[in-house]
Amino acid sequence: MNPFGFQFAVILLLLLNAIMVLETQAAYVKPQRVTCYKRYSKCYLKYITCPSECPEIHPKDPYAKECFLDCYSPKCEAVCRKRKPNCDGPGAACYDPRFIGGDGIVFYFHGKKDEHFSIISDVNVQINARFIGIRPAGRSRDFTWIQAIGLMFGSHNFTLEATKAENWDQEADHLKFTYNGISLSVPLGHSSVWNSPDQNLELERTSATNSIRVTIQEIVEISANVVPVTEEEDAIHSYGIPKNDSFAHLEVQFRLFDLSPKVEGILGRTYQPSFKNPAKSGVDMAVVGGDDKYKTSSLLSADCNSCTVFTSGKKVAERK
Ligand SMILES: *[C@@H]1O[C@H](CO)[C@@H](O)[C@H](O)[C@H]1NC(C)=O
Ligand SMILES: *[C@@H]1O[C@H](CO)[C@@H](O)[C@H](O)[C@H]1NC(C)=O
Repeated sequence: MNPFGFQFAVILLLLLNAIMVLETQAAYVKPQRVTCYKRYSKCYLKYITCPSECPEIHPKDPYAKECFLDCYSPKCEAVCRKRKPNCDGPGAACYDPRFIGGDGIVFYFHGKKDEHFSIISDVNVQINARFIGIRPAGRSRDFTWIQAIGLMFGSHNFTLEATKAENWDQEADHLKFTYNGISLSVPLGHSSVWNSPDQNLELERTSATNSIRVTIQEIVEISANVVPVTEEEDAIHSYGIPKNDSFAHLEVQFRLFDLSPKVEGILGRTYQPSFKNPAKSGVDMAVVGGDDKYKTSSLLSADCNSCTVFTSGKKVAERK
């Protein structure tokens, strides 16, 4: 008998065994339980078990959905949701920028390249965007994309930027952050988390590179990806993207909490209870104007003509 053949068979068996054990472990994850700590919530101190399709709040698998309990919902129910921005969901700002209002209506806002515009302006929070863009010869307007987001709440500020990339490489990270004027880095890798020392801000990567979830308790949750303008998009829309710039930009989706009825901004106003969207549902390419109303002087300023609602320095509710 060949002794190597025997050893080989034993090793093979052990390996198979190990794989089976791993598989059974992967197949069953005990569903976690979630709750809400706010009195106004329907779920206040009720422990809800996550659905078996998404048993975990922070799944290890970057493609898995997460278990989510919406403490603001009139229903108390844990649901599965995607961790990356959904460009077709409410509160989204993607592509050249195409917005989806709080009312679900799709509209475009072109703005101007290398300028800043207010996305959300409310009593507790101000969110601006920096647009990058291109104007091919003979065109009357710029094609634009959102390159950075600037956020102010209380006396704090936060920025999230897509860094420039000559040639796009998905393996390379193109996210850059600052909190209160100081740059910070979130370690690379799926599920990697960074918390500000004051616990006001949490950043969590939702894939190894180029995807992030930003949480500011009680105020906003932002899911964002950095993506390039693809050759396909360039061909379809004739943007005329130069060979030496991938036009790395953000795809974002906002979930806003506790907005006031006076909320303003390109996206913000669509959350006003009395808002009548000038873009009609089902109309293709509805373009909404307002450059003059929403232009701000920088990424972190609330000086647009319709930004009077934001009160800088307002004390942010203490977290438990
Ligand atoms: C951001 O916050 C820091 C710390 O409070 C402050 O020093 C800085 O001036 C703020 N930046 C802007 C542009 O407001
Ligand atoms: C790309 O090329 C254009 C024109 O050829 C030039 O003006 C621009 O500075 C270049 N940009 C970069 C990032 O190298």
